[in-house]
This record gives sequence, structure tokens and C-alpha cells, in this order.
Amino acid sequence: MKTVQADLEHVFPDETIARMEALYPAQAGLLHHLLPDHPLLSLEALAQLGEGLPGAQVEYNPGDVPIGIKPADIPTNGLSIGETIRTIDTNRSWAVLKNIETVAEYRALLMDLLGELKSVVEPRTGAMLTPQGFVFISSPGSITPFHFDPEHNILLQLRGRKVMNVWPAGDERFAHRVEHERYHTGGHRNLPWQEAYRDGAQQVPLGPGDAVLMPVMAPHFVANGDAPSVSLSITWRSEWSYRESEAHAANAALRRMGLDPAMPPRWPSYAWVKTVGWRIARKLGLVS
Ligand SMILES: [Fe+2]
Repeated sequence: MKTVQADLEHVFPDETIARMEALYPAQAGLLHHLLPDHPLLSLEALAQLGEGLPGAQVEYNPGDVPIGIKPADIPTNGLSIGETIRTIDTNRSWAVLKNIETVAEYRALLMDLLGELKSVVEPRTGAMLTPQGFVFISSPGSITPFHFDPEHNILLQLRGRKVMNVWPAGDERFAHRVEHERYHTGGHRNLPWQEAYRDGAQQVPLGPGDAVLMPVMAPHFVANGDAPSVSLSITWRSEWSYRESEAHAANAALRRMGLDPAMPPRWPSYAWVKTVGWRIARKLGLVS
């Protein structure tokens, strides 16, 4: 029986740390990892993890959905999460286990990995807040529809191959400010898709040992290769990302009042000013 690797100090090689220094926080790009075959990340371990997590932390569905599918149109695959993971080779599905940090062993793994990145992250975006981990398990050919996420994220490819298709965060040609406002006031992560977007994609092919740095709110979709895929996503938030989120929510409130606020620039000090203004307005009862 394999044992848990005790020394994870060098999961991210020096060249990846240097690459992150160039990319983080604004640019997507290819990184590498040395995460060994880890017993916590075998299909059987993940199936048991999925069976033990609360239902709200598990999401899965058929994997052959259109890139631009509406959340309400996503069908079920008719299996349990455990069956979905154990038979991922053949069931044409896509699954995510969310917030794996709620389980102690997985939290320890996540914190080890994030700890290696502190020297890059903290000088640029401050303390690493709200560490969260997600595991994606997907069948050959499955698609993760076009969407964005609010976290700073590194996705580590563990098994199989996939292509991350990513667009610049904050470029309204691919995610209009109204979509940001909708998301930051409780809307779904999926975004409206147009085939014309394909020309503007940055494509990052991923195999085992590869990883991709994903900026906050960068629109993306993921296309699996012809083998089952397992990926581990390690994420964190920053004061900046929270302020940007609040700036969009503030704009949504202004839009409801009949105004047409501009897209907040992706710049922390600006987002901070706007957020403080919004907090004051909220306290004064000017917005809800
Ligand atoms: Fe995502």
C-alpha cells in the first residue's frame, strides 16, 4: 500500500515559481508541478470523498453538453457521485468535488501546496485568504462550459489531458460588465457563449505534471482529451478579489437605480475606493 508523501516542499519547481512571478495575478499561463501519485487523489479515494461530502459540495452531470449551455438546461446522468467517479472511463460525465478543505487530510494537502506560493502571492495581492480546493473528474471528450470564477486559481492536471481555453479577465468582449454584476449578486458562473470568441482564446494544453494559472474572473471553458481526466484546483482569495467583487455588486445596485456604471478597472486601489463608497452608501441606507 502506498503511503502519503511526507515531503511536498517541491511540488512547484523553481522555474514554475519564476513563471508565476511574471504572470500573477493578471495573466493565464502554463506551469508545472511535481505532485506525485497521491493516495488521496486516486479514483477510489475520490469516490469515497464524494460519497462523504454533503450534497451541496458535489456537482456532476453528463459531460457532453454544449459550451454555452444554460444552467437550467443541464441534465442529470442518473448515477450516484460514487458510481460517476468509479466508472468515469465510460459514463461520459463530468464531476466536481467542492471545498475539499473541509476534510482534514485534503486541507493539509491544500495548505502544503499553497504554502509554496506565498512568496509570489503575498507581495502582489496580500494575504492568501479563504483557501479552497476542488477536484474535477471527467470522462473522455467532456466539456466544462464557458464560465468564470472569483478565485485566484491554479489547476494541476493529474491524469489524462485537457485543453484550457481562456480569455483575458476584464475584457468586456467576452464577459460584459453586466455579466460580472449578475454573477457577483448571486448569479450562476456560466457565461453566454458565441462561436466567434474562439479566435481570441489562449489555449493551454495540459497533461499530467502540467498546471495552469487562472486569473480571477478570466472567462474559460475546458475540453477534455480522449482519456478520463483528474485535475486538482487550488484556490485562494485576496482583499483585491473581494474588493473587485464588491465593486461589481455596487455597480449592479447603481444599475438597478437606472445608472450605467462603467466596468471597474482591474486595479486594487480603484476597486478599494469604490468599495468603501459602497459600504458607506449601504450603511446610510442609500442602496440595499
Ligand atoms: Fe473554472
